[in-house]
Amino acid sequence: MKPFHVLVLVFTLFVFLIPACSQTQTVFPDTPTFEPELKPTIKPLVLWPLSVSDLPNEELLDGNKSYTSYGCIACHGQIDSAYSNVIGPWLGNIAERAGTPVLEHSSSQYIYESVLNPNKRIASDCPTGECESPSLMPHTFSKRLSKNEMASVVLYLTTETQ
Ligand code: HEC
Repeated sequence: MKPFHVLVLVFTLFVFLIPACSQTQTVFPDTPTFEPELKPTIKPLVLWPLSVSDLPNEELLDGNKSYTSYGCIACHGQIDSAYSNVIGPWLGNIAERAGTPVLEHSSSQYIYESVLNPNKRIASDCPTGECESPSLMPHTFSKRLSKNEMASVVLYLTTETQ
């Protein structure tokens, strides 16, 4: 290699390669980052405790809201208006009734079990007479309600009813 070529080589190195390597990356602070929201399509199964007393009892949601939004009201009617029930028994006096048929069970335990497993005990007093067996009540609440929603609706039905 001739000295002239060596000179050209060194010059090229300085002018092009070194600045290219040491160049700092340009950051665009305003570039929006796109993170698609991951929506779970399957709700994790709730493991239901045997006893209603093991459900949450603090910071409960509004039970009246759950009673409406899960459609209980559509079948059981408004708790402050007797005979407003259409399919299931009227629940305005459930607190009093529920404790009696099953000894050793509190009314809240009775309501809890009725929602989790409608066929466990078939109520007797539906608007059209005897309630049908198997129960016409949806069997899906154990997969749809959260523990908090369940606790709030049980509390609502035991404290806001007679
Ligand atoms: C499609 C109508 C329907 C919906 C919705 C429904 N139920 Fe029922 N439910 C029934 C029927 C019918 C019965 C009576 C048969 C039985 O005992 O399962 C019943 C029974 C009950 C009982 C026992 C009543 C008794 O007199 O012993 C309770 C408590 C109850 N439901 C609570 C609920 C709650 C809380 C919800 C909402 C989370 C709900 N139900 C949603 C139809 C429904």
